[in-house]
Amino acid sequence: METSDKLRLGVNIDHVATVRNARGSAYPDPIRAAKLAESAGADGITAHLREDRRHIRDGDIDGLMATLTTPLNFEMAATHEMQAIALKHRPHAVCLVPEKREERTTEGGLDVAGDESRLGAFIAPLIEAGCRVSLFIGHEPAQIHAAARIEAAVVELHTGAYCDHHYEGNYAARDAELAALKEGARLAHSLGLEVHAGHGLTFETVAPIAAMPEVMELNIGHFLMAESLFIGMEAAIRQMRALMDEARA
Ligand code: PXP
Repeated sequence: METSDKLRLGVNIDHVATVRNARGSAYPDPIRAAKLAESAGADGITAHLREDRRHIRDGDIDGLMATLTTPLNFEMAATHEMQAIALKHRPHAVCLVPEKREERTTEGGLDVAGDESRLGAFIAPLIEAGCRVSLFIGHEPAQIHAAARIEAAVVELHTGAYCDHHYEGNYAARDAELAALKEGARLAHSLGLEVHAGHGLTFETVAPIAAMPEVMELNIGHFLMAESLFIGMEAAIRQMRALMDEARA
């Protein structure tokens, strides 16, 4: 597996749909946001169709598939309903995430090691359909080895705890988490997995993750949408892109 100087930015547009759904209106339109993100330098668009459809809805996925000029990274839980939707659309990438109804966001990584044979069988038809299958996992070696064994193309390492520790001011825990993420990225790369990372990343936290040479793609959403309120989406994406490029240089 190659490393690359060019780090891709996937912009997650879920929370444009969150704002839309808060009022049951037709706006803001996630497809319009995706197009703007593409023109601001996003290398791909990420959208998570949750079981409860709390943000992205089925019609948004139809619209993204019809409109995007960059690859769609379709995030979903490993359920039969979602598998059928993915097989209908055949997006560029399918990222499997754990999903609990009561959680506010994706709180932990997927337990690949504990559910290896089911997940192996689950991803086989997606791989067969031409989707790059990505597994959203923590940095634990057991999870990374299991992802490689079931022949996922990609692992996306969960950066949520690293970001949380940073904002809590718990710098020792943050740095320990960062060290474990680095080890995890190295291990995954050595096993032939493409390495992505994401969750909770901001202007303040992105650089050390972007600097990891094995990491090929970052997926970032909530912060970019929040920052868009103040400086606009295009400026927020351009600034994130610049910080990523600077960290990589
Ligand atoms: N990567 C994955 C797999 C996710 O589930 C999410 C959140 O939907 C993200 C990245 C983006 O996280 P955030 O919205 O906190 O930037």
